[in-house]
Amino acid sequence: MAKLNWGMIGGGEGSQIGPAHRLGAVIDGHYDFVAGALDFVPEKGRAFAAQLGIAGDRAYGDWKEMLAGEKDRPAGERLDLVTIATPNSTHFEIAEAFLQEGFNLLIEKPMTMAVEEGERLFALEKEKGCRVAVNYGYSGYAMVRHMRAMVARGDLGKVRVVVAEFAHGHHSDAADADNPRIRWRYDPAQAGVSSIVADCGIHCLHMASFVAGQNIEKLSADFASTISSRELEDDALIAFRMDGGTVGRCWTSAVALGRQHGLRLQVFGETGGMAWEQEHPNQIKWTPLGGNTEILERGQAGLSPEADRASRVTQGHAEGMPLAFANLYSDLSELIRADAEGRTPDAAADLVPDAEAGLRSVALVHAAVKSAADDGVWTNCVPPSLA
Ligand code: NAI
Repeated sequence: MAKLNWGMIGGGEGSQIGPAHRLGAVIDGHYDFVAGALDFVPEKGRAFAAQLGIAGDRAYGDWKEMLAGEKDRPAGERLDLVTIATPNSTHFEIAEAFLQEGFNLLIEKPMTMAVEEGERLFALEKEKGCRVAVNYGYSGYAMVRHMRAMVARGDLGKVRVVVAEFAHGHHSDAADADNPRIRWRYDPAQAGVSSIVADCGIHCLHMASFVAGQNIEKLSADFASTISSRELEDDALIAFRMDGGTVGRCWTSAVALGRQHGLRLQVFGETGGMAWEQEHPNQIKWTPLGGNTEILERGQAGLSPEADRASRVTQGHAEGMPLAFANLYSDLSELIRADAEGRTPDAAADLVPDAEAGLRSVALVHAAVKSAADDGVWTNCVPPSLA
């Protein structure tokens, strides 16, 4: 089967997330990396693309040049998927322009800055018949998919409570307030309405929805800027309610000194509880009601088909974040191929967070900001088009 053509915008040399995309996209043999506008400095972007093996005429200086150079290419050469891995404030403009030309997209989170922008991409996805995926890459972990499968098949009974955390300590040093790599994150002109909730909180809130199989309907938020020079929050607590009746608690922080990545999910149901941590992604702690706590290992016999198909190397060998991203890329390749061939995609591939998930997250961030400004008043977070 011919490989799909893949291009990326952003994710240049030294970027945080570019390497995980490059690994994730190519590891399963579904895509060739054929075009890119990888850096905001044009010469750096072109040079890095060339270093990665991209042909000179498809190594672009910026995304507008890339769109002009790619939009009229014939089938077979045309890009099947474009990843947008640039800073948040640029996602909307780039995504809208590429969607107008009918490209499938994988957009980094948050999908957009404003709810109206999210609504626009959600509408364009349908209008253009394109795939718009949002990189909630942690939903690609085999054991996160297993948690989702356990909830769906009823192992926990009704899910009573979900506790989601994404609390790291990497912005704890008050003396770092002027560090340019940190300062922009707390500057509303560059970061938008929210810092840690838009950056990290949305990951664990998405994961709560993904695993529980429910959407978040309303929330009450408490934000804090624990370093006084910061205009945006560096710590937040969000209580939320889901549309299937589950109660949710989310803590997200950038000042949890001593914590590294800090993404965790706990799910408590009527007949069992389970816990997962991003720093040990190959295990779930599972406690059935009245039983002992067991460790479920990625790769062991008897896991769900969802976990098995997301797993590559044998039990006992770590699989980490780039391979979780690879599962999204792999599922997307099936969705894109099915669309191109006019057939129904393999249902198992339909786990990729889409524009609806992206829009719901953006609406959630804005609802949290509003609630926090209003002393934690319970606030609806369903976007207008999905109400
Ligand atoms: P970064 O600052 O480390 O890298 C950004 C890259 O984009 C750089 O190579 C820069 O030169 C390039 N760039 C900037 N503006 C550009 C433009 N207009 N055209 C082309 N290239 C441009 O940023 P980082 O941390 O890699 O974040 C990028 C995106 O990925 C953000 O939206 C962030 O929220 C998201 N992210 C997602 C993660 C996940 O787990 N899904 C984890 C970390 C970041």
